[in-house]
Amino acid sequence: MNAPYDEPNWRSIVETLERLGFNVGAYKRPQLERRLNSFITREGYSTVEEFLAAIRRDSLLYRRFHTYLTIHVTEFFRDRPYWTRFRDVIRDIPTRDFRIWSAGCSWGAEPVSAALLLEEMGRRYEIVATDSDEVVLETARQGVYSQADYERIPELYRKYLRPQGNQWVLAPLGGGRITYQRHDLVADAPPGAFDVVICRNLIIYFKGDVRAEVLRKLNSALRVGGLLFLGATETFLEYVEMGFEVASPSIFRKNREARPALATKVYTGP
Ligand SMILES: C[S@@+](CC[C@H](N)C(=O)[O-])C[C@H]1O[C@@H](n2cnc3c(N)ncnc32)[C@H](O)[C@@H]1O
Repeated sequence: MNAPYDEPNWRSIVETLERLGFNVGAYKRPQLERRLNSFITREGYSTVEEFLAAIRRDSLLYRRFHTYLTIHVTEFFRDRPYWTRFRDVIRDIPTRDFRIWSAGCSWGAEPVSAALLLEEMGRRYEIVATDSDEVVLETARQGVYSQADYERIPELYRKYLRPQGNQWVLAPLGGGRITYQRHDLVADAPPGAFDVVICRNLIIYFKGDVRAEVLRKLNSALRVGGLLFLGATETFLEYVEMGFEVASPSIFRKNREARPALATKVYTGP
């Protein structure tokens, strides 16, 4: 049963997951196969058919599986030097009010990092934080963080949290607010127009054509002059053709609307 799965098995996996609402075709297959395999083994199923029958019956099992499949690793100020550069780029922008989209926000460390940074800079902000997974969004909305999470926050920003039992919560922030909503980056239109889009450690999971489409979508969500903040390990070699220039490593400034994708088939004649 180990990955890679043979074609008949893979076809029934795709069919079942797509029927349950997961867009298998958008993601890189080897990664999905590894996650699927380790979940099946961990849960003690002996065949993939047995597992597929179980997730068709049991919606809670499917929710847990979906959460496992979509990898929620995140942390406050992840790859900290990039946040310092982000702050430096923001500092040079005279805008006082920022509309920010944190796409693929997981349990919220990323939008909260952005909020603390802008709060400290005395800017105003409205952050729309989205993810395709409802389970992590529920955790994000609760806004309760562990001691270990708290310790990842640079000293300067810790004053914006207060203890609650042996955990931490955000103190009321004067500069703006974060709202969390479900949004699928592949299937849904952008949730508005923004000055900054933060989309880190997500496009890396998408297949080439889907990744390109998502990057065009991110461009369309930005006003000209707006910033796209990607993950530290995500390459974006085609940034010029996608309508961006480099503002700083992993931070791109939109300088024009992206061209629509070239049609792959131009002649459909007789
Ligand atoms: C590895 S985490 C990255 C979290 C955060 N951006 C960071 O860099 O720390 C990837 C997140 O993307 C979400 N995700 C996966 N596919 C998605 C999709 N199609 N649309 C929106 N979010 C998605 C996952 O649920 C997960 O929370």
